[in-house]
Amino acid sequence: MNSSFTPTQKAELPVWLRQDMRSNHAGETGAVYIYRGILSVSKDEQVRTFAQEHLATEETHLELISNELPVCHHSVFLPLWKLAGYLTGAIPSLFGSNAVYATIDAVETFVGEHYLEQIDRLKAEASYPELRTLLGKCRDDEIDHRDEARDAQSVGRNPFLRGWCWLVGAGSKYAVMLARWR
Ligand SMILES: [Fe+2]
Ligand SMILES: [Fe+2]
Repeated sequence: MNSSFTPTQKAELPVWLRQDMRSNHAGETGAVYIYRGILSVSKDEQVRTFAQEHLATEETHLELISNELPVCHHSVFLPLWKLAGYLTGAIPSLFGSNAVYATIDAVETFVGEHYLEQIDRLKAEASYPELRTLLGKCRDDEIDHRDEARDAQSVGRNPFLRGWCWLVGAGSKYAVMLARWR
């Protein structure tokens, strides 16, 4: 991962913004592992193409966010975010393409809102315009991912899938809280 940042510049991030960026770094790490999880299980060609394309985008996001956050400020729970991401991709892949697309829809819906809150705050504070641009770029991609997943769902969600998607959304919320903390 590129680490060509200047530590003094990054040390200037206020605590609240560092917490946001730590949650973003944790989230993009999880996102990379979601797609790795899908690719390790799914044999569906359409799903695999979808996951490979999204994986490349998420790796770019992770690199961009990593460049803004010194390693010493990464979440101490990174192994957990990797495992949770992997399972979030691998488990629905056992149940077919519709479950995968519904899961990605749920994840990206959450992430789109998560980024929008931060973009709005940076806008209100009129600070860190470069970070705002970066988060805006990531958010645009997440919204594309969400829409692509939504369009690809061919059948409605059964109660199990609805429950799973609720769990994914709730889990993402608690993961952000934990990653913001440490
Ligand atoms: Fe992302
Ligand atoms: Fe995404």
